[in-house]
Formats: sequence, structure tokens, C-alpha cells
Amino acid sequence: MRVGLLGLGRIGAFHAATLSALVDELVVSDADQSRAEEVAGRLKARVGDPFDADAVVIATPTATHAELLVRACDLRVPAFCEKPAAPGVAETIRVAEAAERSGTVVHIGFQRRFDAGYTAAREALRSGELGTLHRVHMITADPAPPAPGYVPMSGGIFRDCHIH
Ligand SMILES: NC(=O)c1ccc[n+]([C@@H]2O[C@H](COP(=O)([O-])OP(=O)(O)OC[C@H]3O[C@@H](n4cnc5c(N)ncnc54)[C@H](O)[C@@H]3O)[C@@H](O)[C@H]2O)c1
Repeated sequence: MRVGLLGLGRIGAFHAATLSALVDELVVSDADQSRAEEVAGRLKARVGDPFDADAVVIATPTATHAELLVRACDLRVPAFCEKPAAPGVAETIRVAEAAERSGTVVHIGFQRRFDAGYTAAREALRSGELGTLHRVHMITADPAPPAPGYVPMSGGIFRDCHIH
């Protein structure tokens, strides 16, 4: 199986290491060509067109997701995209419509929604077991903050994290 990967920043480089051990061929690309060459040289991967593949993984900045997902749908290449599908509702609906129209599988990286602890908390709230919810404490435990350039592209820390 040949998998294409777009974006080799914090999360994309992590996905590249996982994928290179799992798939027959990994094709990587990044807006920064030297980053793509560095990752391909370090892993079992080559630099090329990530859409010329059996499936594509999108790990570029949030503002680019919708356009890339619509392209994947138009080419009928199944896509896994980091969260969120888009920064706003209208673009998210555009992605959903493209996926429905083309019948292409689009999976968004909301891994928290498969987390046993989160699922149990949600069920406890929905069933009424927790009673009335007055306050929520949320903690993000990234060891280091993102680069300053990440913030405007992500919608800011609240939107970036609350979307989970
Ligand atoms: N699921 C999670 O818990 C989780 C965690 C971290 C990040 N993310 C998501 O992953 C995405 C990327 O986050 P990050 O922290 O890795 O960002 P980053 O800024 O570290 O990396 C983004 C990379 O994409 C490249 N890039 C930009 N535009 C491109 C394009 N059009 N084509 C190819 N490459 C392009 C940049 O050069 C950069 O290397 C964000 O949408 C973020 O919300 C999700």
C-alpha cells in the first residue's frame, strides 16, 4: 500500500515515523522542501506527489485542510486528516458535501473521541450520573508551546483544543 503524507511539522513528522514502519511505500511532501528531504532521508520514505497514492494523510496547518480534503475527494483518494476538517462551519460543510458526493472515506483525527476516559465522562454526563455540570477544567500537557506562527493558523489555543 502506498500512502501520501502532507505536512511534516510536529504531528506530521510523528505520523511519518509510524507510517514508514507500516506501509509498503510512504510518499512525503511539505511546503518546506528541505524538511521533506530531511524526513525522507531519515525514514523509509521518498519525496513526491502525496495524492498519487492509495490513501493520503493530511497534517498541514488547519487553514489548509478543507482545500486539501476537497482535492482528495475529487481524486477519490481516501483521506485521514488531522483535526479539524476546517476552521469554520461553512468550510466543514463543504468538506462533508465533497465526501458525500464522491463517496470517498474522510476520517478526521479526533483521537480523544476514542479515548476510554473521555467516553466514560461523556456517558456519565449524558446519563445524569454527574448531575448538573457547573465547571469544566481542561489541561493540555504539551511539553513545549507551538511556534508563534502556529497560533494564527490554528484559530488560537481555545478553538484549537476545545474542538476535541
Ligand atoms: N490530533 C491532535 O491531537 C493534534 C495534535 C497536534 C496537531 N494537530 C493538528 O495537526 C495540524 C498540524 O499541526 P502541527 O503542530 O504539526 O503544525 P506545524 O506548523 O508544526 O507543521 C505544519 C507543516 O505543514 C507544512 N505545510 C504548510 N502548508 C502546507 C501545504 N499546503 N502542503 C504541504 N505542507 C504544508 C509546514 O511547512 C509545516 O512543516 C493542525 O491542524 C493541528 O490542529 C492535531
